[in-house]
Amino acid sequence: MSIVVTGATGHLGRLVVESLLERGVPAADITATGRAVERVADLAERGVRVLRVELDDRAAVDAALAGADKVLLVSGTEPDRVAQHGTVVDAAVAAGVGHLVYTSAPRASTTSMLLAAAHRETEQLLAASGLATTVLRNAWYVENYTDQVATYREHGMLGAAGGGRVSVALREEYAAAAAAVLTGEGHEGRVYELGGPAVTLPEVAAAVSQAIGHEVAYTDVPVDQLQQVLAGAGVPAPMDAVLADVDRAIAAGELAVDPIDLETLLGRPVTPLGEAVRRVLG
Ligand SMILES: NC(=O)c1ccc[n+]([C@@H]2O[C@H](COP(=O)([O-])OP(=O)(O)OC[C@H]3O[C@@H](n4cnc5c(N)ncnc54)[C@H](OP(=O)(O)O)[C@@H]3O)[C@@H](O)[C@H]2O)c1
Repeated sequence: MSIVVTGATGHLGRLVVESLLERGVPAADITATGRAVERVADLAERGVRVLRVELDDRAAVDAALAGADKVLLVSGTEPDRVAQHGTVVDAAVAAGVGHLVYTSAPRASTTSMLLAAAHRETEQLLAASGLATTVLRNAWYVENYTDQVATYREHGMLGAAGGGRVSVALREEYAAAAAAVLTGEGHEGRVYELGGPAVTLPEVAAAVSQAIGHEVAYTDVPVDQLQQVLAGAGVPAPMDAVLADVDRAIAAGELAVDPIDLETLLGRPVTPLGEAVRRVLG
């Protein structure tokens, strides 16, 4: 069974490839694609087929997907990612791929969160493609917060989510869920809302404080003020507004999901916040 993973040069995609290997998928059956392929030289050494694929390049995508049974399309990062996702979907149809799995966002079809618009459009492309698909609507990575620990140490944690809750889990847990779907049966046509227990941002600040032994204060501000702070920190428009809008969506309850789907795919409870934060920062 041949499995292609896009975005394998990134954090999540690499973890999916590692999880596939741990599950016993032969390295030669896995194709890891991305642009900065030097980052996955170790996977190539282990026998994984590594291909440099720019998602704008249809010929390169066709070459990667030729003969593939399953494809994990890891959502992209660039403003034109819907077109890039469309290229992969079209190539998958042309190649006769049996199962396409896509990493989306919570409640992508109905949420008001600006960041999810590209996921909603991509899910529409998937639905229109006629392919057998599975949608992994990943909620938030714990690492979205732990990656900012240097800023938190200096300035505290700033947010605009009030007492709103966001479902978090480790990237490796979303990756293990994706690997379970790619290697398991009966996932075609399913949409999974994936995330761990929903937590508040003050709870995240407290968990980080405990992990680093340094008090991180959480300050709640209006969404437009958060946008200004992000812009002042160098986040370009419109990403400043899109990122600030995430906290508005958290406050509205749009990023809180039931952990049941992730727990079912993992076959165990999701790692609790405190332990997850300690694992990343410890
Ligand atoms: N749920 C969440 O909390 C959350 C947070 C952040 C992001 N995301 C989404 O989830 C995805 C995976 O997360 P991540 O942490 O693994 O992100 P990441 O580390 O930034 O990885 C993104 C991957 O996408 C690839 N990529 C982007 N544009 C591409 C293009 N035009 N052609 C080929 N490859 C391209 C990158 O390749 P190169 O690096 O080789 O260029 C990289 O492998 C992200 O791309 C984003 O859509 C979700």
